[in-house]
Amino acid sequence: MARDDSRVVAPALFPGEEPGELSLRPRKLAEFPGQTRVKEQLAIFLEAARSRGEPVDHILFYGPPGLGKTTLAHIVAAEMGVQIRMTSGPAIERAGDLAAILTGLKEGDVLFIDEIHRLHPTVTEILYPAMEDFALDIVIGRGPGARSLRLDLPPFTLVGATTRPGSLGGPLRDRFGVVLHLAFYEPAELEAILLRSAGVLGVPLSPEAAAEVARRSRGTPRVANRLLRRLRDVAQVKGKGTIDLELAREALSFLGVDHLGLDPVDRRLMETIARHYGGGPVGLEAVAAAIGEEASTLEDVYEPYLLQKGLLRRTARGRMLAPEGFRHLGLEIPAGQLGFFGEEEGPG
Ligand SMILES: Nc1ncnc2c1ncn2[C@@H]1O[C@H](COP(=O)(O)OP(=O)(O)OP(=O)(O)O)[C@@H](O)[C@H]1O
Ligand SMILES: [Mg+2]
Repeated sequence: MARDDSRVVAPALFPGEEPGELSLRPRKLAEFPGQTRVKEQLAIFLEAARSRGEPVDHILFYGPPGLGKTTLAHIVAAEMGVQIRMTSGPAIERAGDLAAILTGLKEGDVLFIDEIHRLHPTVTEILYPAMEDFALDIVIGRGPGARSLRLDLPPFTLVGATTRPGSLGGPLRDRFGVVLHLAFYEPAELEAILLRSAGVLGVPLSPEAAAEVARRSRGTPRVANRLLRRLRDVAQVKGKGTIDLELAREALSFLGVDHLGLDPVDRRLMETIARHYGGGPVGLEAVAAAIGEEASTLEDVYEPYLLQKGLLRRTARGRMLAPEGFRHLGLEIPAGQLGFFGEEEGPG
């Protein structure tokens, strides 16, 4: 059975989200800090569709977890003044489940499919005509007597989200009129998000503390908001009214979050490659087994930021710790690796 969230107007919580995430979601494009290019494009396409009185074209958001894909899907629906119907790739087990969802849509509705790369191929088949012609092809009966029937669907907007655009088939990707990449946030943007969240949660947060947490949030609003909630806990227990710079630093180091925002799992991943595999290259599965995490979790959640920071590299032969990665851990780069990276280890 497809998960039936029925017709959700208010944002709903997804697995893995903390209850607090709900209230922290911006509801309008104008309240959404960061992702300037994405917002500029969205604003134009939404405005154009509104003035034509049509649903906006299908939109695909892709990028690492926690950057705002689900939030933007809700914003698209809110800005268009339509309902959002939410489901996810793994939740739709059979073609019939999707057919039921599609026939339940009203004109203009947004259908949000999270983790769309995990849709089953037989389900994807019926999504093609639905996206392209707003039509549903159904087969009635079996064998020689089977007939095929085409049902019209109301025009709707499909919003897809994925952390793995590479796993999405070309034919599906090509049917999205708008494809938008979410990139990691700048510290100044995260600072704005933190101050806004602190306001929503009613936690006094000093500007210096906000800047410090922003720098250590891995470019990710979800991480920033999570750290803020943990800092609130610490402030509460220590009987401090405000989260100031001192409390922020103390609490972050207590949480094992270092100055780049790396947590113990990040460091274990890097250390394993450095110490057990001489810096690599090593397959991700081997690293995952060594540190007791799922390879897919390392790939989707941990690696993107390490790659972006230049601490880790992906090569055809596997993962390698970059010179910056060795430096961050305070380790010497093995002599054999220097030639590989084409650099001399300089001071610092
Ligand atoms: N630009 C932003 N401003 C303020 N908060 C944000 C922003 N982007 C994301 N958030 C917050 O970060 C959290 C995660 O956002 P969201 O669920 O939209 O991410 P996602 O990209 O869908 O992640 P996943 O890939 O894990 O589904 C939410 O609590 C949301 O409030
Ligand atoms: Mg999401």
